[in-house]
Amino acid sequence: MSNPSEAELIHRFKGISFTTRSSPELLKSLDTFDAREDDVLLVSYPKSGTHWLAGIITKLYNTQITLTSPIEFGDVSKLEELNKLSSKRIMPTHLDYNMLPPNFKNKKCKMIYIIRNPKDTAVSMYHYYRENPNLPTIDTWTAFLDLFLKGDGKDKCYKNKSFIFLVPQDLPKVVKEISLFLGLNINDSDIQDICKKSSFSEMKSDTEKENSDPSHTVCALTSNKKLIFRKGVVGDWKNYFTPKQNRRFEEIFNEKMKGSKM
Ligand code: A3P
Repeated sequence: MSNPSEAELIHRFKGISFTTRSSPELLKSLDTFDAREDDVLLVSYPKSGTHWLAGIITKLYNTQITLTSPIEFGDVSKLEELNKLSSKRIMPTHLDYNMLPPNFKNKKCKMIYIIRNPKDTAVSMYHYYRENPNLPTIDTWTAFLDLFLKGDGKDKCYKNKSFIFLVPQDLPKVVKEISLFLGLNINDSDIQDICKKSSFSEMKSDTEKENSDPSHTVCALTSNKKLIFRKGVVGDWKNYFTPKQNRRFEEIFNEKMKGSKM
């Protein structure tokens, strides 16, 4: 069987590329999605550590919560399924701020935005593309980087009082910050325990043992856990970028981030 064509895998909606796993009907109906005040959104650019963040948050609650698949993945029946959930909903999304269902903003739902060095994100995504049959074929790192740098992400708008940005370097500090933001009272010994369980190796082996329901997984594009928990290191980009690619990346990054407070 031949590989699916790019048109079968990718479509554009409001000028942004989506996989065909996000149906245009679903994307259109997001505008009318009924958010609840206690919903929590986990916002990220893909391959920035969404699973890691989701893993921490699910460990913080000792009440019933449901971690859903990203709100933009699936067909139009997705929103109805989300509406039926009776427990608190923790919902990942890779949507641009302007495309978020307005109800999340109107109801001031809590949103946690995780960011990662974009060079490491690019390398992580390169591997993800290469080995994921649900995404277009990528031949070389150079070809992928060109594609990545043409990307249409515009996250400068993500700022308001119901937001925190995370740059996960000091893990106990970050876990404490998340718990306070979510209004949870977690003692230091539990924080230490959560940190231990959130290391790359623990999370990787836990996830590989799980037999998860695809509608409740953060990554709806593959069930290959090795693609999600690949290497988990900071600075892997140095093994891929040539000095010239690095200079070009920095120029484009600085230009795109001009005026951002991030
Ligand atoms: P690598 O491909 O560089 O290994 P996402 O969850 O948004 O898809 O991001 C996946 C990236 O986050 C992968 O990067 C993965 O290894 C990394 N990651 C996930 N959990 C992690 C953890 N507990 N510690 C460090 N990195 C983690």
